[in-house]
Parts: sequence; structure tokens; C-alpha cells
Amino acid sequence: MITSSIPIQVQKVQKSRVTDVNVNEVPFGKVFTDHMFIADYKDGEWSNFKIIPYQHLEMSYAMSALHYGQAIFEGMKAFRQDNGDVVVFRAKDNWARLNRSAHRMAMPEVPEEVFMQGLLQLLSLDKKWVPDSENGSLYIRPFMIATEEAIGVKISNEYQFIIIAAPAGVYYAQPIKTLIQNTFYRSVKGGIGYVKAAGNYGRSLYPTKLAQEKGYQQILWTDAETGKYIEEAGTMNVMFVKNGVLVTPGLNETLLAGITRDSILKLARKQDIPVEERKVSIEEILNGIESGEVTEAFGVGTAATVAHITAIGYEGKDYVLPPLEQRKLSPMFDKQLRDIRKGRIPDEFGWLTKVE
Ligand SMILES: Cc1ncc(COP(=O)(O)O)c(C=O)c1O
Repeated sequence: MITSSIPIQVQKVQKSRVTDVNVNEVPFGKVFTDHMFIADYKDGEWSNFKIIPYQHLEMSYAMSALHYGQAIFEGMKAFRQDNGDVVVFRAKDNWARLNRSAHRMAMPEVPEEVFMQGLLQLLSLDKKWVPDSENGSLYIRPFMIATEEAIGVKISNEYQFIIIAAPAGVYYAQPIKTLIQNTFYRSVKGGIGYVKAAGNYGRSLYPTKLAQEKGYQQILWTDAETGKYIEEAGTMNVMFVKNGVLVTPGLNETLLAGITRDSILKLARKQDIPVEERKVSIEEILNGIESGEVTEAFGVGTAATVAHITAIGYEGKDYVLPPLEQRKLSPMFDKQLRDIRKGRIPDEFGWLTKVE
């Protein structure tokens, strides 16, 4: 429930850039909408709520986010339904996760009304930027950075919460190959793997580059403690179908609790598809691929929704999964999520918020 209304100052662009852009064609994350939402935090309070033309940040080179990594973000999407309405998917879940990240990084929580009203007013102004293509969406990036001008490792006294948005098409044009390696780890016990802190992504870039040089698009991350269990696929959660059961690593402090993961588990349970959230070992999956028991492997996340995994590389060998045409559950969940977002089937879980 939004309990109070915040005063948002709105400064609109004189002329929208949307007519210069084909929103159905732009590359992911490169072109931003006309406006952005900003809120400032200082001395224990959020204030100065504004929507302004999308612009660059004026900052101090001593800004603490740049040095000590107090930077967190979210990724979510708005969709254009078949009837032209614009809806945003599970926005409150992203708000709640942003605050879990804020808590872990000793940053201030963002009140629900700031997040939701900032988001909905921004989307309302920039509605035209939401693609109408079958796989198009408006990718929304809420984020918070520590803005205090101060060198010295300490909790910043000042922050900005910002929302920007970019039209997006298909994230992975092709199914992906993933690599299991046991040199680098994404996340450790007691670390920050369960939140969306910028540092998690910075540390993943080098190992991912090495995997890509070997022909794999993403790493299938394993647990740092034993190196035996599968945790995530790149920046997605990962799911398998084994003997008709939907199997996915159980949540713990080294995994991000993905909203797509949760949505697919809810859809599966509703349809009485057996689901197991538990430890998933490398051995189990690779043996299962060889014996034919593991029939599907896929990454799940906001950017791609479902990214089919064609093969898993491990110690010099590729374990190849059955072709996409033979897969049942992953294309079904992909379609069901699209149908809900597009308004083709009822939103039984109350996941959509309409943008007025
Ligand atoms: C590390 C990681 N795991 C999983 C996910 C999937 O989460 P979601 O479905 O909420 O996008 C993401 C993307 O946000 C991620 O960055």
C-alpha cells in the first residue's frame, strides 16, 4: 500500500527524441528515454524528488561510490500489451530487493512511495518509448549511488536514487553455451552475492571474458566453498528439467533471488509441475545429460526471460543438451510469462501494474 504522496517536480523535455528512434530496433541498453527520476538523500532524509530530461551527472571525482563501491541497482521491465496499455512487471518485488541490497551495503532504504511514484510518473511521461514488438520491452534501471564527496573508507552520508529506462529487444539472439570452471567464483558465504551490488558484476567480467574466448557466452557459476554445486548462469538464475521435474538451486546467501525464477516456480506449482529447490551438483547435471535424464537447461532473468542452454562445458568436454524443438517446459514458461505481460491471459498473481 502506498500510504503517502511525494511531491515530484517535473521538468519535461521540449521535444521528445522518441520520433528519432525505432524503439523496436535499438541495441540493448544504449538509448535512453527522454526523462529520468532522481531523489536525494542527506542527513537521514529523502528529498528533492524530480523528473528531469535525461542528462549526465555532475559529480565530484571524490564521490564515494567511485572509490568504495556503495552502488546498487535493479533491473525490471515495462511491456506494451496487445491493447496498447503499458504495464510494469512485479515492480514492488524489485523495490523490496533494492532495499535488501541497500541494507547489506549500509545504504538508506528507499521508501515504497518514492520508488513506485517515481517509477510510475516517469513511465507515464515516457510511455511512447515502450516497444510494441512481440519481444520488445522497456528495460528499467533503478539504482542508488553514494554521492558524498569524501575520500576515506566509511559509510557515505549522501546518496542519490535514480531511475532511467531504455527500450530493449531480444537479449540473447541465440541459445547459449555455458562453461563450468573452478578458478573464479561469483559469490562467497558472508559476501554480497545475494544482493545486486555493482561489485558483483565487476568481479564477474574477467572470468566471463575468459569463458567467451573459449566460445562460451556465460559461466555456470559454482559455489566457492566446495566448487561442486551449480549456483547461477551468468547474471541469471538457472533451471534444469530432470525426469520431468523442474530443478533449481535453492536460495541462500550466495545466490540472487531472481524475480523471474520466482515467477516460473509459481507458474510451475500452479500447474502441478513437480518442482525441487535444492542443491544441484555438477555431477548430477552432467551425468543426467549423458544418461538422458536431464532434458532441459536454461537461464532465467529479467533481461532474457528464458535463455536456453545448448551445452555445458566442463574440463575440456561439452555436455550437449537435447535440441530446442524437444524442450517442453522452458518454452512453455517463456510463453506463459509473455502472455501474462502482453495481457493475453489473466494476471492471476497480480504481477502487473498499469501505467496511467
Ligand atoms: C546475478 C543475477 N542472478 C539472477 C538474476 C535474475 O534476477 P531477475 O529475474 O530478478 O532479473 C540477475 C538479474 O537481475 C542477476 O544479476
